[in-house]
Amino acid sequence: MASTARDLAADPILRVEGIDVYYGHVQALRGVSLEIYPGELVALVGANGAGKTTTLRAISGLLKPVVGHITLDGQRIDTLPPEKVVGLGVSHLPEGRGIFPTLTVFENLQMGFYTKRSDRKAFNHGVEQMVELFPRLGERMQQAAGTMSGGEQQMLALARALLPGPRLLMIDELSLGLAPVIVQMLFERLKEINEAGTTVLLVEQYVNLALQVADRAYVLEKGGVALSGTAEDLARDSEIVRSSYLGGHAPAPAAEPASATEPARAAEPLPAPSVVTDRDEPEQRFLRAVESERIPATKVTSGPRKKSPAKKTAAKTKAAAEKAPAKKKAPAKKKAPAKKTAASGTRSAAAKKSATTTKEG
Ligand SMILES: Nc1ncnc2c1ncn2[C@@H]1O[C@H](COP(=O)(O)OP(=O)(O)OP(=O)(O)O)[C@@H](O)[C@H]1O
Ligand SMILES: [Mg+2]
Repeated sequence: MASTARDLAADPILRVEGIDVYYGHVQALRGVSLEIYPGELVALVGANGAGKTTTLRAISGLLKPVVGHITLDGQRIDTLPPEKVVGLGVSHLPEGRGIFPTLTVFENLQMGFYTKRSDRKAFNHGVEQMVELFPRLGERMQQAAGTMSGGEQQMLALARALLPGPRLLMIDELSLGLAPVIVQMLFERLKEINEAGTTVLLVEQYVNLALQVADRAYVLEKGGVALSGTAEDLARDSEIVRSSYLGGHAPAPAAEPASATEPARAAEPLPAPSVVTDRDEPEQRFLRAVESERIPATKVTSGPRKKSPAKKTAAKTKAAAEKAPAKKKAPAKKKAPAKKTAASGTRSAAAKKSATTTKEG
């Protein structure tokens, strides 16, 4: 189970303070407050219509709070237009992915980099890292994004959001419409991305899956924060959380623990086919997913993926660079592996101090 990565000495990256947001006369958020610390993966969960997407839109600058403030690294951003908020390092993977279906994979990645368009070297390096993270994308650089499978499109959306090296990555429903095995793979990648230092705010319908990867979570109910706490504490009370705040039905029974040392997975696993737990064979899992989505598998690479997204696979990136219409080829020199942030290094210390679940007034 994830413990909190919160660096107790650090200031929050993001602070949302008592925001009210309206759509016309309809009030969608009521005094929502939340904080995200460097290196954290924070989940935002709640029933349909609770205000999760609205919260992310307000942070992105797409909606303006009528009351309250939002600050990023201490600077107010709720008064800024969305493009300025993006420029300050807030990446938003929206509900429905928001990719450009008629543009190629490569062109979509370029769109993700538009605030730093002139920095070709950084872009090439970023693309190499994304191809390392999602080899499938490297094979599809010149394919129209709209012709890819749902899972591949979500990989592209995630890669595009990650490419500029965001200070804060916000993801709205990573799992939306995807086969369980793809969801599991994406969550594993997300965990790696977070452990390599990216701070994440995750909106997710699969609450237990979210709580498995998150450090802390906020539960939204009818536009307000009803509950917050460590993911560990909330997962322990997941039945209460679900029945009280998520319009809940009785959860599925927890899976049997795989061994005496491994805790049982929280209830409400993904629907069948069952979640794959073999962490050493991502490509095999991906192949099975490809099979389940009936995608021609001729181009799927074999062999295990390297652990660190920052370590390049020379052959893959060379192939990607050759296919890419970039004027300059991606640099071939080795990059240092991604380092964990100071914040992620504080996990165990912070875990000991893990705050108890807080019922919001
Ligand atoms: N464009 C809009 N115009 C008017 N009301 C809206 C609009 N978008 C959302 N709302 C309302 O605002 C409230 C919060 O919606 P929001 O989309 O933030 O919920 P959500 O938690 O993301 O739900 P879901 O899990 O279904 O995605 C809902 O009552 C919804 O009907
Ligand atoms: Mg939503």
